[in-house]
Amino acid sequence: MRKKIVAGNWKMNMDLAEGLRFAELIDQYFKDKSMVKAEVVLCTPFIHLPGLAELLKQGKVAFGAQNCASESSGAYTGEVSAGMLKSTGAQYVIIGHSERRTYYHEDDNMLNKKTVLAINNDLKVIFCCGEILKEREEGSHFIVVKRQLERGLFNLSTEDFEKVVIAYEPVWAIGTGLTATPEQAQEMHKYIRSLVKDRYGIEFAENVSVLYGGSCKPSNAAEIFAKPDVDGGLIGGASLKKEDFCAIVEAI
Ligand code: PGA
Repeated sequence: MRKKIVAGNWKMNMDLAEGLRFAELIDQYFKDKSMVKAEVVLCTPFIHLPGLAELLKQGKVAFGAQNCASESSGAYTGEVSAGMLKSTGAQYVIIGHSERRTYYHEDDNMLNKKTVLAINNDLKVIFCCGEILKEREEGSHFIVVKRQLERGLFNLSTEDFEKVVIAYEPVWAIGTGLTATPEQAQEMHKYIRSLVKDRYGIEFAENVSVLYGGSCKPSNAAEIFAKPDVDGGLIGGASLKKEDFCAIVEAI
């Protein structure tokens, strides 16, 4: 049985006090629930991580970052390494989010370096892939996602790939209110699993969690999560509202 995961991506939101207060509310909510089927992960700005380690240590909620450096240490002003993330107690890191690819020009090669460093530092990687609107309209979305996965992930050993969760996030659906239909999500998730199968074998592919991200909300989550190859979600905007985020987790 592969793992179901719902991860919140806070992006650049919430100062230290706001973030810790919010995480405490989420933690409290899930402490009282015995029937939650998904692992809940909060991916926050770096500043929250040490505080979250303290706050979440007795609970069920996991946490991580939204990025890490592509080098392990040294003269890289402003960067935070995978080893530093690990030292806070973080368990996860998002790599390859489309906002990083677009605004910070992170290419496949750099994302592969980040992924390798994260795994070497014993972090789990939520690796994002997805096409822009023009690529979907042209019908090249499968080619684009295949290239992102081949270049970003497929040099990993089987053992290392066990630390990877894939998030399919069509860029045209992120923060736009447009969501992929459950059928579009299923079609791409199935394709992603087939690529993993071709590279790592069928048994392995069946155990890889593939999350959907892009304007996921309480009103559409259940329908998307019900698809056989969708194993949860990476949630942006709706992860900043307690009721919405909790409802999405419970939609699994
Ligand atoms: P959204 O963002 O849920 O606000 O569309 C998803 C993401 O960027 O991970």
